[in-house]
Amino acid sequence: MTFNIFNMTSLSIQELLVAEPKSQEVVVNGWVKTFRSNRFIALNDGSTINNIQCVIDFEHFEEQLLKKISTGAALQITGKLVESQGRGQCVEIQVSDVFVHGTADSETYPIQPKKHSMEFLREQAHLRVRTNTFSAIMRVRSALSFAIHQYFRENGFYYFHAPIITGSDAEGAGEMFRVTTLDAKKPPLTDEGEVNYKEDFFGKETNLTVSGQLEAEAYAMALGKVYTFGPTFRAENSNTSRHLAEFWMIEPEVAFNDLNDNMDLAEDFIKSVINYVLEHCNDDLQFLEKRLLDEEKTKPQIERSEMPLIEKLKFVAENTFKRVSYTEAIDILKNSKPNKKKKFQYPINEWGADLQSEHERFLVEKHFKCPVILFDYPAKIKAFYMRLNEDGKTVRAMDILFPGIGEIVGGSEREERLDVLKEKMEALNIPEEELWWYLDLRKFGTAKHSGFGLGFERLVLFATGMGNIRDVIPFPRTPQNAEF
Ligand code: 4AD
Ligand code: MG
Repeated sequence: MTFNIFNMTSLSIQELLVAEPKSQEVVVNGWVKTFRSNRFIALNDGSTINNIQCVIDFEHFEEQLLKKISTGAALQITGKLVESQGRGQCVEIQVSDVFVHGTADSETYPIQPKKHSMEFLREQAHLRVRTNTFSAIMRVRSALSFAIHQYFRENGFYYFHAPIITGSDAEGAGEMFRVTTLDAKKPPLTDEGEVNYKEDFFGKETNLTVSGQLEAEAYAMALGKVYTFGPTFRAENSNTSRHLAEFWMIEPEVAFNDLNDNMDLAEDFIKSVINYVLEHCNDDLQFLEKRLLDEEKTKPQIERSEMPLIEKLKFVAENTFKRVSYTEAIDILKNSKPNKKKKFQYPINEWGADLQSEHERFLVEKHFKCPVILFDYPAKIKAFYMRLNEDGKTVRAMDILFPGIGEIVGGSEREERLDVLKEKMEALNIPEEELWWYLDLRKFGTAKHSGFGLGFERLVLFATGMGNIRDVIPFPRTPQNAEF
């Protein structure tokens, strides 16, 4: 409980809305959502999606003061908490005093009480959280991060902080942001005319990390169960509604787990955090569900989702994810209607093809109609560290595919055999000197181990029913966009 300078109890709006109204004096700070008839202020302080209604007897207030009360203004309101006279709320405040912290000129304040487009709001990323939609999303995002830490803590995992600056490309995809202090206009050169990174800050080439996995593996091989939860960076030029250049990833890594244990963990983990938001974010989810239903009404029937948001979340939390091998999935896709009718942008002709988002979504949304875990992918389309199967051509990989999202998790059992890993690295031209420490993990006390990465924003997308990943992270970083 906090006290303000007048020594009167200052409660959040969330607390006030469930308090018993006894005409007690209350003080509340917040921002004006709407001001109607010079009499009703809907005030919000971010603690909940719901506003508290503050009723002003305008005859007792100066015209000058009333003029300052407009959408967006920050106020401190003192008054009595009473049972509401009007409909739509249980309590309201009979205002005795208004202090204006700061006004918001209605001519220039961009967030007016009307519908704004998502595109417009992205340009106002510093203010968009003042809308109901964005405040709801960000509260759900916060609850989900808490649920994630709670899940791992309750299940005996240690929170491990992977480095942000790294010398290794974990995914081997080469989509990294360089970190350097060299002069871009006049870098030092080697005799061969190449940039001489020996003279750079770290004495070698470094980048922002694409994944904390390799370092997490080192820690799992001593602490047993660890997880990272931090920002990761990818310089892939994908302008899609599912990709960010800076995103948060959760990566658990567990010693002695095989691929099946890994799938069990991922499924249990996702269900647990979804249950958490169902339990703790009801008001926000109801708001987001209604928003989605309104939006869906404007779409053609075939594009509408089959379930309202909360039902969809419950469905995922309550039903078993379907586990299917890559090989089975390819058969299904090859024989699917859209493939035969050449509706896929990337037709599936043969085993070995990489799956695109359109294929993943077909499997989840049209074929199985539930979350799907695909496993045992061709080695050729997966990263070097995945464990080779007996068949010599597939690896112990797994991807979890979600409705409306496509891939939400990527993981695997890791190659724990030194000789097999070395062969793989050689075949892919990954120099041993770069990953000598990673190879050490296979030289000293190696053991089977597994882990996965969950894209946090893709989870938030799913939980909030939003359509674009740029709208579920406070300040999105995408190609050509790093304002704010
Ligand atoms: O499948 P990815 O690339 O897997 C890894 O990075 C492994 N090292 C993880 C591990 O095994 N520890 O990425 C994992 C997940 C994806 O499934 C996706 O949800 C998300 O990270 N992701 C992105 N999210 C937003 N924007 C991007 N550009 C993303 N790239 C991957
Ligand atoms: Mg992946």
